Amino acid sequence: MEDSKVAVVTGAATGIGAACARALGAHGFMVGIHYRKSEQAARELLAELGQGFLLQVNLTKSGDIDAMVEEIKTAAGRLDVLVHNAGFSVNMDINSMRLEQFDAQRPLARGVWYLMKRVLRQFMLRRNQGRIISISSVVGHTGNGGQIPYTMEKAALDAFTKSLSKEFAGREILVNAVAPGFIATEMTAGLPEEVQERLLANIPLKRMGKPEEVAEVVAFLASGATYITGSVLHVNGGLYGG
Ligand SMILES: NC(=O)c1ccc[n+]([C@@H]2O[C@H](COP(=O)([O-])OP(=O)(O)OC[C@H]3O[C@@H](n4cnc5c(N)ncnc54)[C@H](OP(=O)(O)O)[C@@H]3O)[C@@H](O)[C@H]2O)c1
Repeated sequence: MEDSKVAVVTGAATGIGAACARALGAHGFMVGIHYRKSEQAARELLAELGQGFLLQVNLTKSGDIDAMVEEIKTAAGRLDVLVHNAGFSVNMDINSMRLEQFDAQRPLARGVWYLMKRVLRQFMLRRNQGRIISISSVVGHTGNGGQIPYTMEKAALDAFTKSLSKEFAGREILVNAVAPGFIATEMTAGLPEEVQERLLANIPLKRMGKPEEVAEVVAFLASGATYITGSVLHVNGGLYGG
C-alpha cells in the first residue's frame, strides 16, 4: 500500500468523476474520492474500491482547499495525479440571466486555480513529477446557447491547462485536459427530449458517450502518455475534432 501511486479525483462521487475513480483504482492507484454533497455515493464508491480515502470539500472555498491538502498529506503522504472533474453549469440565456447568476460560475474557477497551486507546491514540485488532468468540455470549443458562463469557464480551463503545462518545462509534470462531448450522466439527464434529439443528430456515432469512455482516456493520461502535455483530448463521438 505504501508504494501505491495516489490519485485524487474531484467530484468523484457521481457521473464522470466516479468512472474516473474506478478506472484509476483498476490501474492500481490509491484514490482520494473528493465530494461536496454526495456523501453516501462517495462512501459507497470507497467501499467498492476497497482502498482509498474521502475528502469532503467545497472547492469554491480556499480555506476548505487548504484543509484538503492537509488531509491528502495525512491520508496518503503523496499525490501523483490530480483529476479535476468537479463542475456545474448555470443554464440560462443572456436575456434571462442576472449578474449574480453569472457570478455563480466564477468561484469554482478560482478554487481550481488555488487547488492546483497548492497541490503543485505541496506534492508535485518537490518530486519534479506529477500529472494534472482537467475535465473541460466540447462546449468550450463549439459554444452552446444558454450556457455562456459555463462555456467561458470550460474554454478558460483548456487555456489554463496549456499555460500551466508551459510553466513546468523541463520537469516531469504533465498537464492535460479531456474535453467530453455529451455524456450520459445526471448533468445531461435533465435535458429536454427535443434537445437530446438535436444533439444526437449532430454526433457521428449517433449516441451519447458513457462516463467510462471518458475515464479510460483519463486513466491513459494518468498512467501512460509520457510525451503528452498541454493537450486537450476530445472524447465526443466525432461531434468536434479540435
Ligand atoms: N455530462 C456531460 O455531458 C459532460 C460533458 C462535458 C463536460 N462535463 C464535465 O464533466 C464533469 C463531471 O460532470 P458529470 O456529467 O459527471 O456531472 P455530475 O454528476 O453533476 O458531477 C459534477 C460533480 O461536481 C461536483 N461539484 C460541483 N460543484 C462543486 C463545488 N463547488 N465543490 C466541490 N464539488 C463540486 C459535484 O459534487 P457533489 O455531488 O458531491 O456536490 C459532482 O460530483 C463536470 O466538470 C462537467 O462540466 C460533463
